[in-house]
Amino acid sequence: MGQKPFYITTPIYYPSGKAHIGHSYCTLGSDAIARYKRMQGYDVMFLTGTDEHGQKIELKAAEAGITPKEYVDKIVAGFQELWKLLDISHDRFIRTTDDYHVKAVQKIFRDLYDKGEIYKGAYKGWYCTPCESFWTETQLKDHKCPDCGREVKWAEEEAYFFRLSAYADRLLKHYEEHPQFIQPESRKNEMINFIKNGLDDLCVSRTSFTWGIPVDFDQKHVVYVWLDALTNYITAMGYGSENDADYQKYWPADVHFVGKEIVRFHTVIWPAMLMALGLPLPKQVYGHGWLLFGDGTKMSKSKGNVVDPVILCERYGVDAIRYFLLREIPFGADGNFTNEALIGRINSDLANDLGNLLSRTTAMAQKYFDGRIPPKRETEPVDQELIGMATSLRAACDGHVETYQFSNALADIWKVIARANKYIDETQPWVLGKDDSKQERLATVLYHLCETLRIISILLTPFLPNTAPKIQQQLGVSGKAVTYATADVWGTLPVDAVITKGETLFPRIDVEKEIAELIAILGDTSQKDEPKAAKPEGVVAMEQIGIDEFAKVELRVAKVLTCEPVKKAKKLLRLTLDDGTGERTVVSGIAKFYTPDDLIGKHIILVANLKPAVLCGVESHGMILAADCPDGDIKVLFVDGIPAGSPIH
Ligand code: ME8
Repeated sequence: MGQKPFYITTPIYYPSGKAHIGHSYCTLGSDAIARYKRMQGYDVMFLTGTDEHGQKIELKAAEAGITPKEYVDKIVAGFQELWKLLDISHDRFIRTTDDYHVKAVQKIFRDLYDKGEIYKGAYKGWYCTPCESFWTETQLKDHKCPDCGREVKWAEEEAYFFRLSAYADRLLKHYEEHPQFIQPESRKNEMINFIKNGLDDLCVSRTSFTWGIPVDFDQKHVVYVWLDALTNYITAMGYGSENDADYQKYWPADVHFVGKEIVRFHTVIWPAMLMALGLPLPKQVYGHGWLLFGDGTKMSKSKGNVVDPVILCERYGVDAIRYFLLREIPFGADGNFTNEALIGRINSDLANDLGNLLSRTTAMAQKYFDGRIPPKRETEPVDQELIGMATSLRAACDGHVETYQFSNALADIWKVIARANKYIDETQPWVLGKDDSKQERLATVLYHLCETLRIISILLTPFLPNTAPKIQQQLGVSGKAVTYATADVWGTLPVDAVITKGETLFPRIDVEKEIAELIAILGDTSQKDEPKAAKPEGVVAMEQIGIDEFAKVELRVAKVLTCEPVKKAKKLLRLTLDDGTGERTVVSGIAKFYTPDDLIGKHIILVANLKPAVLCGVESHGMILAADCPDGDIKVLFVDGIPAGSPIH
């Protein structure tokens, strides 16, 4: 019987700037899963790549005085080098400038047009000529371009549209019938609300720039970059080409890993496109959280926060970086990256817990038995807990990997490491070593430690692919004894294994000295403009303020008592709030995104000490907090369950 296929993808990244640690985070997570699945015997297809078209790249190339292709070629090479450095085991790398992809996208566009799923219409909106951008009413700032602040004019442009609005019910039905389609669960609710607020048809062509895939039957249009990009998941498998054997074998994908900010593209637009093409949908879209940097976007020099993945790998080794990123942050959640936390994990988990377990075990095996543990055994009840934990570890890791919780898998591995270290303290081999009558017991203890390490090394392989073989080499095991099949079979370590004490896996880092050196590096690199690469665009862009400035803002939970439209102001809603001290009126520009029924009874966050302002004749006392989402959508922050009046710090 053939192996079962498993198809996993990362987003294809924009080569508008250098590959950074945010990209590395998603790619490493995907790599760990791909490696684990391969180890389990799946026929894995792991796809990553780059999303190379669009106006932004066209502009960047123009600024650099080179062609867009020259511009992306250089940056894409950097992505590929970084994946090599991080030991990423992707099977395929797609570039949206690849010829086969361009042809397949043209075919997909044409097919959708022929089926009537794409139609020609007019794109209407507020147009900023210098920025060549259309804006919706709500995106404008003081009725000016939100990017450059200049005047905008009403304009219409011929464009192609995809009938996205026709798919709302089918998408909702799909979510309901496939509860695993959007994960984690919280992201699913966001998407359901988004669809329920109404879907517009999607403009899928542009004429305002040329760096894109031309619509082959109407050459003045280029294909919208998201339509171009999303199809990569099937074109990379040969869909739309003469040889679609891989498409037949691997599609539908088992999982698309994507950052949470692009879940909507993957769970609304992408499935609707696939439905329109009559193709199966991916089994799951997993929206992971964001890696945030210390105090916001600025890397703080005072904390020595170096985040360039190349420098990090040079200083600590690839596996330490892999371990930190995979262990520190549960995959669905946001988490902070700081060098202090990284060094902390290296010292405690890698150097102390794992490193010491291996070095103590191998040193004792050498000291007492010259590296060859005698076969006679003398067991004691204390052995059972360690054996039980070690042999059930594989099943525990399998469970976590199934739900993409590699952080939990690593946590469970470290529980066994901790148990083994405790076992050394309990059994005191150095005392046994002094007593000739205890040699069989000593051999048993050391064998148990080596066997535990063997199991750990196998299950660590997908996460720490460089470290696991080093452990196995010191244990003198190879072949069958290092396979997944034997990771739950106690007693696999051969009696004739030759154990040697090898190099230290992870040297301890002197924290103070290290931070001082990092600060020096930051001094150097900031002159070279290096840290730029570590700021994920659009993800953590903010100016820093002091805590005292923040403290001036009085945030409070409030309950929406009533809500109604403001006459002659299409954008505005008038809300009466209970803020814990009484009632107040607040006017909010969210009418396009919420109906009164969506809001009444909800608990929201109120900026309570904002100066009153009159908006379209209504006096507003405060402001409610909402998030500006990609694509111009606005989401109010609901805090239901927290009593009205609760202060927020
Ligand atoms: O969105 N923390 O490309 P992109 C965690 N081309 N992950 C991060 C991150 C951070 N700080 N910064 C980036 C695009 N990422 C499109 C995708 S797919 C058909 C098209 C990761 O270069 C995260 O996975 O902006 C995020 O979704 C992705 O990089 C965005 O990469």
